[in-house]
Amino acid sequence: IKKIGVLTSGGDSPGMNAAIRSVVRTCAFHNIECAGIYRGYQGMIEGDFKEMGPRSVNNIVNKGGTILKSARSKEFMTVEGRQKAHQNLVNAGIEALVVIGGDGSFTGAEIFNNEFGYPVMGIPGTIDNDIFGTSHTLGFDTALNTVVDCIDKIRDTASSHNRLFLVEVMGRDAGHIALNAGIGAGAEEILIPEQDLGLERLLESLRKSKAAGKSSSIVVIAEGDKIGKSVFELKDYIEENLPEYDIRVSVLGHMQRGGAPSCYDRVLASRLGVKAVESLLEGKSNYMVGILNDKVTLTPLENAIKGHSEIDQELLRVSDIMST
Ligand code: F6P
Repeated sequence: IKKIGVLTSGGDSPGMNAAIRSVVRTCAFHNIECAGIYRGYQGMIEGDFKEMGPRSVNNIVNKGGTILKSARSKEFMTVEGRQKAHQNLVNAGIEALVVIGGDGSFTGAEIFNNEFGYPVMGIPGTIDNDIFGTSHTLGFDTALNTVVDCIDKIRDTASSHNRLFLVEVMGRDAGHIALNAGIGAGAEEILIPEQDLGLERLLESLRKSKAAGKSSSIVVIAEGDKIGKSVFELKDYIEENLPEYDIRVSVLGHMQRGGAPSCYDRVLASRLGVKAVESLLEGKSNYMVGILNDKVTLTPLENAIKGHSEIDQELLRVSDIMST
């Protein structure tokens, strides 16, 4: 391999830039060229490439977002789109690809590999941490720190005014952010997509905490929870059933996806970038690099896509005990 392409795709996450930097510099270290591909697969279709040397990634290890930009490409879902993309890569002399993104991005990479026998390697980048084959995705740790920081601030108002706050966090299909940040920020209850707590249990828990003398409470809710109500409808429902509570809602939104990556995410990104490039140079393809028990590992892309990143039952139990 003489030239590797790198792209970011899907939702951005803190640490993506550190991963781009790692890929670019590992290529330089091994005396091969590196091309940045803009706007994910869409840029591949449009031939939007830029040669990247080690100095082109100065001062980005600390930056959120992605300097290569990201997009969701409908055209890449068509055979014609992928053929165009493949031809552009061949024309530019790019012989292998590092894809930084989530499961949608990996699905694209796997199809591309199957169709053209093209070497691909995935790096998991999403704040949701919903990828099988890695204990941490890039951006998860940073997002947790952001959420905990926000809830700490919300707690000041909650306790000053004896209020109940419903805090909605990201996680369309996964409760990892809600569960971990909820424990870290001392939430009373945590609602996640993987487990239907049921409204009755929530009310019961809030009743108990009032009876136990708690004057304020925080409930953390993943946006994809299974309660079947929006966070605002949930507020109305609790107010109707427990009028003693003064309730406010706070939806944290996209602030969770931005910001400087934590040290953990920067180190992780650097390690995964090295492993991705070196694995391609060893002739490996169609894997995702990840981290398990603090060891960098390879998981077949297919398993990473289809596998389930399970919620840790121990964490659920800890959360229960902590709200005593
Ligand atoms: O990156 C994943 C995620 O943060 C989900 O938790 C959330 O539902 C989604 O992105 C929002 O994406 P968009 O920016 O497209 O609204």
